[in-house]
Amino acid sequence: MSADVRSFFGRPIIIGGGIAGLMTALHLAPEPVLLLSRTPLGADASSIWAQGGLAASLGNDDDPEVHLADTLAAGDGLCDAEIASRILHAAPSAIETLATLGVRFDRTPEGTLRLGLEAAHCRRRIVHAGGDGSGREVMRALVAAVRSTPSIVVVEGVEARRLAVKENAVRGVWASCSMGSIFFVSRRVILATGGIGGLFFDTTNPLGSCGQGLALAARAGAVLADLEFIQFHPTALDGPDRPMQLISEAVRGEGAVIVDETGQRFLEDLQGAELAPRDVVARTIWNHLSNGHRVFLDAREKPGTTFARQFPTIARACRDAGIDPAYDLIPIRPAQHYHMGGVAVDGAGRTSVSGLWACGEVASTGLHGANRLASNSLTEAVVCARWVAESVAGTPARRTKPVVARDYPSPDPISVRPLLSNALGIVRNGECLKATLRALLPLAEGKDAAADPAAVGLMIAIAALLRQESRGAHYRTDFPDHGVVARRSRLTLDQALATAREFASSSTLEGLEQ
Ligand code: SIN
Repeated sequence: MSADVRSFFGRPIIIGGGIAGLMTALHLAPEPVLLLSRTPLGADASSIWAQGGLAASLGNDDDPEVHLADTLAAGDGLCDAEIASRILHAAPSAIETLATLGVRFDRTPEGTLRLGLEAAHCRRRIVHAGGDGSGREVMRALVAAVRSTPSIVVVEGVEARRLAVKENAVRGVWASCSMGSIFFVSRRVILATGGIGGLFFDTTNPLGSCGQGLALAARAGAVLADLEFIQFHPTALDGPDRPMQLISEAVRGEGAVIVDETGQRFLEDLQGAELAPRDVVARTIWNHLSNGHRVFLDAREKPGTTFARQFPTIARACRDAGIDPAYDLIPIRPAQHYHMGGVAVDGAGRTSVSGLWACGEVASTGLHGANRLASNSLTEAVVCARWVAESVAGTPARRTKPVVARDYPSPDPISVRPLLSNALGIVRNGECLKATLRALLPLAEGKDAAADPAAVGLMIAIAALLRQESRGAHYRTDFPDHGVVARRSRLTLDQALATAREFASSSTLEGLEQ
């Protein structure tokens, strides 16, 4: 393997084989690139599980400005309006690009794209494929396109463990595979590693997504942004399986309602009811569960007997759990679903480390603010992959020396998961965050398999502790109101560790600035 791989040294390296990574590789073609994937392409990317589809203003009654207004409203004052506008104006052509690459979107009998509705969208603008199998279909087409593009070399079974950085510039990637450690030389690296669901017990993400990209960037000295904003999906199937089966918001878009064990629609009084912004729905369900109720999705009337045709993946999962959604209530509870925070990037996907880009869920562009609007994230990944590729292509490859391969442990979040699940869920408070910080600090400073997940958890906990307000998906019982000024948060690992040490030794938050 090493002889082959060395002949690719110097090429841009894409870490991650989900939609963001594949699209970046395709946009870079014919420039030769190396794409590193932990698993066989498509096997463990959260992209493949996406049900909701891609949001784009394609309807005759729609406009990118209307899409932008919905995005900003859901983002609760924290979106970067300029970048959001750029991304959402580019969304319709991103859908066209995917169709050109062979994605078979759902269409009406007349052949136009079928547009679905999801929470907090005031128009039907969600493009789906295969009903609730959008991610699977997009991945099928992109994996096929990548496999038939000779300039893209896919190296599967390789896990990136550290970035080599000198004078704030990337020099390559230390990685591990079944044959041992290897160093990939490159001054251009793109993180497309997905999210953090594996750091939580209740998640709709693959458990292998445990913030590896955040750890790589943080240990390289990059600035991370808005880490405290974690989205919990209101409707995951409440059963024994982990990760949990998502029940798409599109089911509510087609008329399903949420009830408790008495049959009461307890969300009815919210503005937008079951289709209110996701953070509001998730929090209300969480409170109802905490008050001893059980919560169900009722799809018996709408979509009713067409459920299995419209949502075949969900129907299959329900059937496996002994539930027929056309006739039975579906037990639900919220689960970690998406991370709005990530590696801070500019409009070209550049991070604060020279030669390091980030794309997809691992990046924080500023589009999502404090609460992501449903189905904006796949759109963001596809749109931004083009900009990242243009920026990478415009950055000349420079020679750099190979470095000796080094061993780093494979991250294992098992000891971190209970801490984050307890302190960084839907409802947070300062005391619990402080206790978590104390527990995470020694793990993050250690050198074993818990170190990277703990470092990521510690950064999230610091960001959550320092945000002394409630906004979007970040809700603090000890600070239940909005702050006066909406401010995005930015943090490096060094700052987080220094703050945590200071805090651990003084046991007080006084003097810590937001
Ligand atoms: C869903 O289908 O409800 C999820 C869509 C999304 O998270 O964007």
